[in-house]
Amino acid sequence: VQPGAHTADLVVFGGTGDLSMRKLIPALYHSDRDGRLSHESRVIAMSRGGLTDADFRGKVDAEVRDQVPVDDQAGWERFLGRLHHVSVDVGRDAGRDAGRDAGGADRAGWGALTRLLAGHGQRDRVFYLASPPRTFGPFCRELDEAGLVTPRSRVVLEKPLGHDLPSAQRINDEVGAIFDEHQIFRIDHYLGKETVQNLLVLRFANAFLEPIWNSLWIDHVQITAAETVGTPGRRGYYDHAGALRDMVQNHLLQLLTLTAMEPPARSDREAVRDEKVKVLQALRPITGTEADRFTVRGQYVGADGMPGYLDEPASTPPTEASRRVETFTAIRAEVKNWRWAGVPFYLRTGKRMPYRRSEIVVQFKDVPHSIYPGGAPNRLVLRLQPEEGIQLHIMAKEPGAGEVRLKPVPLSLSFGETFTTRVPEAYERLLTDVLAGNPTLFMRRDEVEAAWRWIDPILHAWESHTELPEPYNAGTTGPAGARELLGRSGRAWHEEDA
Ligand code: BG6
Repeated sequence: VQPGAHTADLVVFGGTGDLSMRKLIPALYHSDRDGRLSHESRVIAMSRGGLTDADFRGKVDAEVRDQVPVDDQAGWERFLGRLHHVSVDVGRDAGRDAGRDAGGADRAGWGALTRLLAGHGQRDRVFYLASPPRTFGPFCRELDEAGLVTPRSRVVLEKPLGHDLPSAQRINDEVGAIFDEHQIFRIDHYLGKETVQNLLVLRFANAFLEPIWNSLWIDHVQITAAETVGTPGRRGYYDHAGALRDMVQNHLLQLLTLTAMEPPARSDREAVRDEKVKVLQALRPITGTEADRFTVRGQYVGADGMPGYLDEPASTPPTEASRRVETFTAIRAEVKNWRWAGVPFYLRTGKRMPYRRSEIVVQFKDVPHSIYPGGAPNRLVLRLQPEEGIQLHIMAKEPGAGEVRLKPVPLSLSFGETFTTRVPEAYERLLTDVLAGNPTLFMRRDEVEAAWRWIDPILHAWESHTELPEPYNAGTTGPAGARELLGRSGRAWHEEDA
């Protein structure tokens, strides 16, 4: 255990769910193994599973062990020994209006949690809400009424934080009635990714980029989060989310703010977040018929043996909402300020694309006067995943005695090759920050609401459309409209090495 390791009780609502088993428990294991959590710390999973501690430990042993992977059996068993399970019928309970009239079984669950936490009032408590957003307010009230919210408590809210601005405001009000803003950690796991943090270091710890980081030198920016996965088993959620709410409102806009923000005066929590909010507030609204010009919606259809969105396995048949939901979107955004006037920020995300890749591509302007044939503008590519790294594509001369022939070649930094230390998962980094009480990489209330304020008019415009999203074949880069969005101004998506 490292000096300064945290002693905390982490209570995870939705503790046996997909996020918990795939991301949170592995991240906690790594924190434990690397000595960032003290031996007294505990992880308490809350779910309606009716599991005992032993059942839950068995489940984690069966489902998580191979993901991490375990190299130290004694350490793994010690970690399992820290896991507990408490049953509450979280979904049913929180579905009720007030969320307070839980039945006898549920009261027993809250009682069990209270007993487990009793006697440890001085230690940090982290309540991690990895449950549907409608449960956030009711759970916070339950915790408060049970007297479990101490000054050293924090609450972590998973996305999606609402489904539009009014619902996000309501959740923020409800949670804010119990926890102070400095105790509230709204997570966006993209902010925990190494390259995302490196973007700030690249921009603000190096002198050469900042002078050219503006509309005089930059032609446009592309932000892509492409996924090969579809949405099997997720239709219940996805029909009402879609790519805009699921990826753009949070992950892509966060990447945009970090790319576009002004240099903060300090690296502290408020200074960084103040600058990010200003970018969101400077986004040019896309309203009414502008959505036809500046946004594209797509939905994948079956191809090459892959199912279409409507044919994905699901517990219920597709509905009108399923037919209307976008699994792909591309948007031409604009930041209306001095630095970025006239520079388009193209955002793009989709399911069942041909590759999994998240990246920010900054395309510079072409040389003002070319003395060689065949040049291409410089591009800076920040690759978030896979193979995290940074590449600057420059023009070089191909070797040869004849006429000068240009070729774009990358100056390349691969984090994997340059640094031998293990790259921590985003959730590990973020959980460590929650334990340390550092909210810099979490979204402040005004940030989340500013993001919704820009998204809402696009949602409204789409809702009023009668036509369905443009179909694209599973395994392709999205509908034709996405190419036209850039093609109209003679630009193209960065598809190199696809
Ligand atoms: C989640 C979305 O927030 O991010 C998922 O709900 C998406 O739909 C996931 O698949 C992508 O995360 P990552 O880290 O794999 O890029």
